[in-house]
Amino acid sequence: MVDKQSIILSSLIVAVTAIQPNCERDNQFKNYYFSIDYCSEFYCGHSEYGFFGDADLVKIKSAKIIPTCAFSSAINLKWIQGTHKDIRVIASGAFVNLINLESIILPFNQIRELHNGIFRNVSLTTLDLSWNRIIYVQEGAFKGIQNLKHLNLSNNELITLPMKGMPSWLTHLDLSHNFLEMVALNYDRFPNITHINMSHNELYSVALFIEKSVKNIDLTNNKLRDIDFFDVQHCEQFRMSLNKFSYVPRFLKFANIKSVSLYPNPWRCDELQILWEHLQNNLVAVDKYSNPQGKPLCSDNRDGGDFILSKIKLDSLRCDDDSHCDSTMLCRGATCSDVCKANVCDPGSICKASNHAFECSCPAGLRRDPRKLYSPCLEAQCFISSDCDYGYFCENNTCLHLPEASVGAAPASAFAGSWPAREPPPKPWWFDEIPLLSPKNDIKDI
Ligand SMILES: *[C@@H]1O[C@H](CO)[C@@H](O)[C@H](O)[C@H]1NC(C)=O
Ligand SMILES: *[C@@H]1O[C@H](CO)[C@@H](O)[C@H](O)[C@H]1NC(C)=O
Ligand SMILES: *[C@@H]1O[C@H](CO)[C@@H](O)[C@H](O)[C@H]1NC(C)=O
Ligand SMILES: *[C@@H]1O[C@H](CO)[C@@H](O)[C@H](O)[C@H]1NC(C)=O
Ligand SMILES: *[C@@H]1O[C@H](CO)[C@@H](O)[C@H](O)[C@H]1NC(C)=O
Repeated sequence: MVDKQSIILSSLIVAVTAIQPNCERDNQFKNYYFSIDYCSEFYCGHSEYGFFGDADLVKIKSAKIIPTCAFSSAINLKWIQGTHKDIRVIASGAFVNLINLESIILPFNQIRELHNGIFRNVSLTTLDLSWNRIIYVQEGAFKGIQNLKHLNLSNNELITLPMKGMPSWLTHLDLSHNFLEMVALNYDRFPNITHINMSHNELYSVALFIEKSVKNIDLTNNKLRDIDFFDVQHCEQFRMSLNKFSYVPRFLKFANIKSVSLYPNPWRCDELQILWEHLQNNLVAVDKYSNPQGKPLCSDNRDGGDFILSKIKLDSLRCDDDSHCDSTMLCRGATCSDVCKANVCDPGSICKASNHAFECSCPAGLRRDPRKLYSPCLEAQCFISSDCDYGYFCENNTCLHLPEASVGAAPASAFAGSWPAREPPPKPWWFDEIPLLSPKNDIKDI
């Protein structure tokens, strides 16, 4: 009896520990190079070991793998960012017990797959994994995240996505620029969704059932001839340009839409006539379409309208990896993209691309606030004391001289809170592999 219970109990413990890694024991810093900058409100530091006290922002400097328990010692962490860092793998248990997180921003890396167990006990509003090379997402990949509202998986190589395992509280779902072929979005799984972007995919089948108002649904540039199912309570803006519609999809006659983008599509003229009348009678606005080539909006030939599209849909250059593209371009979604032209940098900064990498630098004399997730280039002498020369500290964006006595001495009260160089001592890489010397072997005694 007792035995039976303890067996059940111990197998339960095994199951639980298998799910929740022990981050003291299982952290993988000693195996993988994981170089980061971290900041709290008052100070910033750098670490190769992943111990960063009470930081609220971590910027990954260099890593191929985000290892298990990578952020385990940062309970107050709000933002994790690693843009364009050559990250290839997110290990199982990489994000554990981070209940104060707001965003994980990892675009422009080389992540291929998302497996189960990456997130455990994580609370998060925004997850940006756009511009990676994700081709596979396991059904439970997003399990373990609470409160996720914005999910950006655009510019990847997804053919399909396990809708069953998607986070429930999404409001914004960006799946644009992938290779999705069939998607069914069901209200039951996404009760709070308002922005759905599935543009620039290979969709030939789509079904949408959303029993509430949504802001926009973007199906631009797919292969749709019809829409399998559409029951959306109300939609502000619906985009269906650059598809293969020649007949009016059945649902459009009943759909409650405020504005729609229709062109270009190989519309039959008689069908388009019916559609116009219907839209007019229901006060649906049709987006203006500037048609520089003066192509007709419709054709009376069967499928004759396809020619309208063939001129407009440019066959973009296909690629398998960066080396197939010009050195200023990246290969994402099998397409060479000129990232600087895609406005990846904020407006104030200078975008420079070479060797399939890009950089957003500030004009001379300006700098970014390292404590901010997104900082524009600003005119400031300093934000933190490490921006200043030795013997100076930063106060109100100005480098001020430290009182004489404190220069070279231990941190003085003059800069307490400002630059307390509080990096905890890093554990050596062999920590817990070689037992520490016992006191009797102390150097003094020999
Ligand atoms: C989630 O993480 C928080 C903060 O580290 C911790 O206090 C809490 O016990 C964890 N919850 C579970 C179910 O592990
Ligand atoms: C991804 O989408 C989010 C909003 O959902 C947006 O803030 C972010 O800029 C997008 N990322 C990129 C790289 O475009
Ligand atoms: C879902 O949306 C409703 C109203 O739009 C809001 O009250 C609720 O908090 C949202 N749920 C979550 C988990 O965000
Ligand atoms: C959807 O994504 C595409 C490509 O990223 C973008 O150009 C478009 O503006 C987005 N649609 C909406 C409605 O935001
Ligand atoms: C910094 O600015 C704050 C408010 O703007 C002010 O109260 C404080 O005195 C300033 N400190 C110094 C050293 O100028």
